[in-house]
Amino acid sequence: MRVIVESTPNEVARHAARIVADLVRRKPKCVLGLATGSTPLGMYAELIRMHREEGLDFSKVVTFNLDEYVGLEPAHPQSYRYFMDEHFFRHINIDPRHTHVPDGRALDFDAHCQQYEKLIRDCGGIDLQVLGIGRDGHIAFNEPGSSLGSRTRLKTLTAETVRDNARFFGSEEAVPRLAITMGVGTILESRQCLLLACGSSKARAVRDTVEGPITAQVTASALQLHRDVICILDEQAAAMLARRDYYREVEALQSRLEAARRARAEG
Ligand code: GLP
Repeated sequence: MRVIVESTPNEVARHAARIVADLVRRKPKCVLGLATGSTPLGMYAELIRMHREEGLDFSKVVTFNLDEYVGLEPAHPQSYRYFMDEHFFRHINIDPRHTHVPDGRALDFDAHCQQYEKLIRDCGGIDLQVLGIGRDGHIAFNEPGSSLGSRTRLKTLTAETVRDNARFFGSEEAVPRLAITMGVGTILESRQCLLLACGSSKARAVRDTVEGPITAQVTASALQLHRDVICILDEQAAAMLARRDYYREVEALQSRLEAARRARAEG
């Protein structure tokens, strides 16, 4: 796992957006896996700015979102479809038909989940999967105890996740108890994963993910099995990492190597 520590959430957002934008420029027809939550909001804002000011072109990009609440209409202000339209899609030149979010109103959930997986495969698989992390170390809605081989399916939310997400719904009672979520196995098949975390409330989950044992109790820890994961953290989220200084050293050397490579290529 590559661990990058930035000084502020704003820097995290800018760095993450740079990685997404590089891929979109390099591979205009790329398949992006996208996440909701407050963490990636700054990254979406920066990508929108790049689209407006630098002409970053999303016209051929395909997206798949990680999850959706069961029972919410796409027009419901707390649905993840609404979130994505509001905070990202309607501000860029993406073809709405290229944007996929699981449908929380599906009648046959098993068929819908299988169809979602098939669609990802038919599009060639996910090139880059953006991930946030829950305070208990979950990715997407893969709550503690989820199989590390799991596929897209229905998942019951834990009381902690319901409490955490109640801030968006006004009350705990209004938060759906069920969600459709890509599985840990689905996520691990992405070619690259980009995990973002900010704030001290994520410090323990980040430590368990990066330096703890691989366990279904912290589903993000399964990312240790993936060969290409970049974690971008702010100082607060990185505060409990034992090897923080080492990660910094690696990044400093990495930047020098990249600068030398660029100089050679240019000259
Ligand atoms: C929810 C989402 C996750 C997200 C997490 C953290 O559980 N399903 O994808 O990572 O919330 O959200 P936030 O970024 O708001 O802390």
